[in-house]
Amino acid sequence: MALPNAAERTQSDLAHLIHPLYHPTDHQEPRIWVEGRGALMKDINGVEVIDGLGGLWNVNIGHGRRELGEAAMQQMNTLAYCSSYTGASNLPAIELAERLSRVVYPSINTFFFTSGGAESTESSFKTARFYWKTQGKPDKVKIISRLLGYHGVTMAAMSATGMPDYWKMFEPRVPNFVHIASPYPYRFAAGDASTSQGVAAANLLEEAIRREGPDTVGAFIAEPVQGAGGVIVPQDDYFRRIREICNKYDVLLISDEVITGFGRTGTWFGLEHWGVEPDIMQFAKGITSGYVPLGGIGVSDKIKEAMDSTPPEQRWMHAYTYSGHPTCCAVALANLKIIEEESLVQRAAEMGNRLLEGLHTLDAMPAVGEVRGLGMMAAVELVADKATKQEFPSAAKVGARVQREMNQRGLYTRVRGEVICLAPPLVTTAEQIDRIVDILREAIPAAVQG
Ligand SMILES: Cc1ncc(COP(=O)(O)O)c(C=O)c1O
Repeated sequence: MALPNAAERTQSDLAHLIHPLYHPTDHQEPRIWVEGRGALMKDINGVEVIDGLGGLWNVNIGHGRRELGEAAMQQMNTLAYCSSYTGASNLPAIELAERLSRVVYPSINTFFFTSGGAESTESSFKTARFYWKTQGKPDKVKIISRLLGYHGVTMAAMSATGMPDYWKMFEPRVPNFVHIASPYPYRFAAGDASTSQGVAAANLLEEAIRREGPDTVGAFIAEPVQGAGGVIVPQDDYFRRIREICNKYDVLLISDEVITGFGRTGTWFGLEHWGVEPDIMQFAKGITSGYVPLGGIGVSDKIKEAMDSTPPEQRWMHAYTYSGHPTCCAVALANLKIIEEESLVQRAAEMGNRLLEGLHTLDAMPAVGEVRGLGMMAAVELVADKATKQEFPSAAKVGARVQREMNQRGLYTRVRGEVICLAPPLVTTAEQIDRIVDILREAIPAAVQG
């Protein structure tokens, strides 16, 4: 099949399309993707690269799986859409919720579906407020989140997201959102030697709850492994201490599993690594491997009980047209079938180890400050000075340069500041994993010296 003319399509893109995080200076030569297969993607010029971020941390089963297209076609030809508002339901949504109850944390057995991550964040926040109102604590409305946390960019989600760049041109933020520092083992400096770093980082939550007043704090939201903030894997004792603090002060723990869900970290869901259960978990991305938009939240049995026992006039008055979308749920079911039948959760753990071990062979490079990761999420943080962990001056544009060097060698991924983020599809082959490492081995010195 003849590929369309790249220059002409780029002109049309520039004239008519607004992209996420848009600015024209970064968009004069957009990479126009036309095809994907496994961990590979091909652009409009026929150039094939490894998709180092699995789309946007979401294409867990890899590109080009016909089963998902067939599931969508079959459902669309049968019943593409119907309302799921109270009083109505549909077969794929029922089956998906039941299926999720078997793989999600034991105390979470009921689910509400959305169309993506930010809608899920909004749903979690509203559910937390709802829950406390049903418990006679209507003032527990504040949400605490972490700097470098990412929860989407609708207004409330943006207010929880801990990256000021996302706020700047949209201020003021929604009131009643509070941030604490993230655990960030590479850079977090604990206050005193008697406490581990993980506990010290978690104790920042206790301090914030006390400062704000426990009667005003409804929930704490956190990604088990921070993704967009630079693949920050917390200390092993961090989330256990977080859970204790949430219990002590009656604060709901919301686990944002939009990236970490569905096998990405080598377990079905992220907090399993530390034996911790949240009160609300939210998901998106990997539930359909990005083939169609779908997200949602799961709530603990105690929250479901509150929903069931509230009088009708105080119901959970929250809704989306596309909640429980039959076609999206059918695609999710086909996706989960592949994850289960091909043991992709286990594969993420194994291939993730291979990736991390490979990346550790770069440790000795002068610009490599830290290599870190969990399952199929990994990062290489570049620094100007290893001893002081000093970052490169932003004028040096090392992040952009390393991105270009990786692109030229056949690896496409995102770089946050000078942190190279990796989250390839869970089906990435051993050879492709090794190739990713080899590309970084060449691209990092080329970028730093250049
Ligand atoms: C952890 C997390 N939460 C929420 C979101 C927002 O999802 P969406 O872009 O689908 O709104 C993202 C997106 O990257 C995410 O990584």
